[in-house]
Amino acid sequence: MRKKKNLKSRWATVSSGRLAEDPAQYRGRWLSLYPPAKALFVELGCGKGRFLCEWAGRRPDILFVGLERTPEALLMTMEKAAARGLHNIRFISGDAAAICDLFAPGEIDRLFVNFCDPWPSNKRAKRRLTHRNFLRLYRVVLRPEGELHFKTDNRPLFDFSVSEVEAVGAQLLRHSVNWHDDPDYPGEDVMTEYEEKFSSQGVPICRCVCRLADGTTPEDSENTAGTA
Ligand SMILES: C[S@@+](CC[C@H](N)C(=O)[O-])C[C@H]1O[C@@H](n2cnc3c(N)ncnc32)[C@H](O)[C@@H]1O
Repeated sequence: MRKKKNLKSRWATVSSGRLAEDPAQYRGRWLSLYPPAKALFVELGCGKGRFLCEWAGRRPDILFVGLERTPEALLMTMEKAAARGLHNIRFISGDAAAICDLFAPGEIDRLFVNFCDPWPSNKRAKRRLTHRNFLRLYRVVLRPEGELHFKTDNRPLFDFSVSEVEAVGAQLLRHSVNWHDDPDYPGEDVMTEYEEKFSSQGVPICRCVCRLADGTTPEDSENTAGTA
């Protein structure tokens, strides 16, 4: 992503009340930041934020947290949230690998991973946000009935991800290799920037939903979670 002009001053303008400074301090009490919320939804690698802001506008009963490691992208997301006057959205500037330091066991109701970097070389497979090491971390922070929602345009990454879901013994609730043509497609699903770009080029969008809980308590899982 290109450098942004006046990043520092723009950041200062929109980050107040949105960006969680020292986010680990909210571990276990994210919902207290927005008491009307009944649930916590988190997007990892939220990019420029279209998906998150659209969802937050539609669901004022949910607190959304966007985690993104590229400041330029996060700035654009925060600017979108500010322009729309969204109160039910917070941001973390950081890496998904730290998710267990940021959220308590069982704290998250839903995790979104959208169009994550495919890292095509097998040598870099552990960096994929759907690698089993990441799934084991997500299992800790998701509540037992919570769900991971994953979308991508990249079929090899999708197939890899589904096999990782199976490898950790998770439950695959939905699986579609052409989501926009799927009978379950709601017709006006919220699209991410990448989804809009690839689907307008005719590339099929793959999507799966899974439940990661394996019957152990979140506390048990925390002790066995791998690192990414
Ligand atoms: C390909 S873009 C997709 C952006 C957006 N989700 C979409 O669908 O339009 C991937 C995004 O994930 C972010 N990202 C990649 N790895 C990450 C990590 N380990 N932790 C946090 N963000 C990450 C990148 O900075 C980038 O903004």
